[in-house]
Amino acid sequence: MKLVKLLANLGYGSRKEVQRFIRQGVVTDEGGRALKENEVPPHGQIRFRGEPLDPAPPLVIALNKPDGYTCSFDDPGNTVYDLLPPRFAERSPALNPAGRLDKDTTGLLLMTDDGKLLHRIIHPKSHCRKRYHAILDRPIEGHEAELFASGTLMLNGESKPLLSASLEVIGEKEALVTLQEGRYHQVRRMFAAAGNHVLALKRLSIGGFQLPDDLEEGQWRAMSEEEIGTIFQS
Ligand code: URA
Repeated sequence: MKLVKLLANLGYGSRKEVQRFIRQGVVTDEGGRALKENEVPPHGQIRFRGEPLDPAPPLVIALNKPDGYTCSFDDPGNTVYDLLPPRFAERSPALNPAGRLDKDTTGLLLMTDDGKLLHRIIHPKSHCRKRYHAILDRPIEGHEAELFASGTLMLNGESKPLLSASLEVIGEKEALVTLQEGRYHQVRRMFAAAGNHVLALKRLSIGGFQLPDDLEEGQWRAMSEEEIGTIFQS
């Protein structure tokens, strides 16, 4: 790929802007020598204003989503893209959430520009289980685990019952819920169907990948190949 297209696809600017940056000598090799448009050293050797380039596609990031951020790019309020470098919103191929979280759900959000990987993560056949910690308004009564595991629970407005989900009670009003799929507001609607109300919800893991302990709310990091592999281990 040509240098201009490479940088434009990473969101460093339009092709015209990138051409200007190259002419200004902002794009260099590791030693600080200005690159020409027709030069394309290996990705890791290119510098933009002295800094290494953002990772090339395919990129997969893990983000610890705070409360109050939507996963939708077009939302007028705070979005998860506001937590990333601004140029990440300009990347081509685009970086998209692999399984959205509600505005008021916190925790692990994976984002990738790899469409095939994204579909693999969200498709129920991949068995990437999503684990949530839920804090509830009312005490758990005891019938919920059986209801969630039944495989027959039908949510309002849906035509197919939910796949079996597991519930582990960890407190009077606290539980871990593990889903095999990701329907709209699923955990909140499941507890509503059981006569309860979710006060707070956090996603702890996707497949075998746990929200890293050292990732503070609002922070993100690129995932290694080994970590990406753990998504498909249960
Ligand atoms: N279930 C929900 O209700 N909300 C989420 O954000 C994720 C799962």
